[in-house]
Amino acid sequence: MTVWDPVTYLEFADERSRPFVDLLSRLPAMEPRVVVDLGCGPGQLTASLAVRWPNAQIVGLDSSPEMIKQAARLAGPRLRFQLQDLRDWRPETRVDVIVSNATLQWIPGHRELLLSLISLLTPDGSLAFQVPGNFDEPSHQLLRQLSADPRYASLLTGVTWPAATDAASYLDDLAGLGCSVDAWETTYLHVLSGPNPVFRWISGTGARPVLQALPEDHRRQFVSEYQELLNKAYPTRAYGTVLPFRRIFVVAHRHASAIRDDQDCAPLSWTR
Ligand SMILES: C[S@@+](CC[C@H](N)C(=O)[O-])C[C@H]1O[C@@H](n2cnc3c(N)ncnc32)[C@H](O)[C@@H]1O
Repeated sequence: MTVWDPVTYLEFADERSRPFVDLLSRLPAMEPRVVVDLGCGPGQLTASLAVRWPNAQIVGLDSSPEMIKQAARLAGPRLRFQLQDLRDWRPETRVDVIVSNATLQWIPGHRELLLSLISLLTPDGSLAFQVPGNFDEPSHQLLRQLSADPRYASLLTGVTWPAATDAASYLDDLAGLGCSVDAWETTYLHVLSGPNPVFRWISGTGARPVLQALPEDHRRQFVSEYQELLNKAYPTRAYGTVLPFRRIFVVAHRHASAIRDDQDCAPLSWTR
């Protein structure tokens, strides 16, 4: 299981929060009672939901003890955090809004999970999620190429690779369930500063499983080679280093008739 480090992750908190704000901006005016953030990470974005919806109970779930420990510092009367693998999550009551930012890409086969998530919503509830759409970018290609090198490949056989599909496929999945769907993509041009900026970015997220799987001496060598490749692929200009980052956004509104009542709150076709 990937060990997350809230401090490394939060180094780019400003850039990483932008898609969350853009995602939430497409939810209509509503007064939800129960809102759940799946894969809440260090919790500061979950906390912003309590400000947005002052009458709602907000719950952040995450499978990382490190992230939940960090998030728990923000807990309050209407805001709580829970150590929970989202694949096993079954709420006691239906939920008005499910949010998931930059998390579902870590769940292999997560498209099958969408049906289950929609069934957990109240009639007229909403599911809003964002996943990276940058797995063909040099940052990920170089990571895969280096990982396939015979010096490292045998050490990395069990590693989890994040993956996601395109906006049109998610739209098709959810519209097929009878939801109305708003799906789109945005490429952000993050201007990073300091040494090895793209490595510092990706070592907080996408590269973690690979880096953790390598024994110390291999990791040192791998990091040095990967940094060199990244620095060539993302040259530093006078104003900084540009990291283009494509992201996929989906907001789906369930209609009362979208899913039959007998499908509600049941683990559906989802299998781990
Ligand atoms: C890139 S972070 C995103 C955190 C937060 N949503 C944000 O936008 O800042 C991904 C998070 O997903 C969590 N995660 C990954 N797989 C999970 C699972 N199966 N169940 C719950 N959380 C999971 C990780 O622990 C991590 O905190």
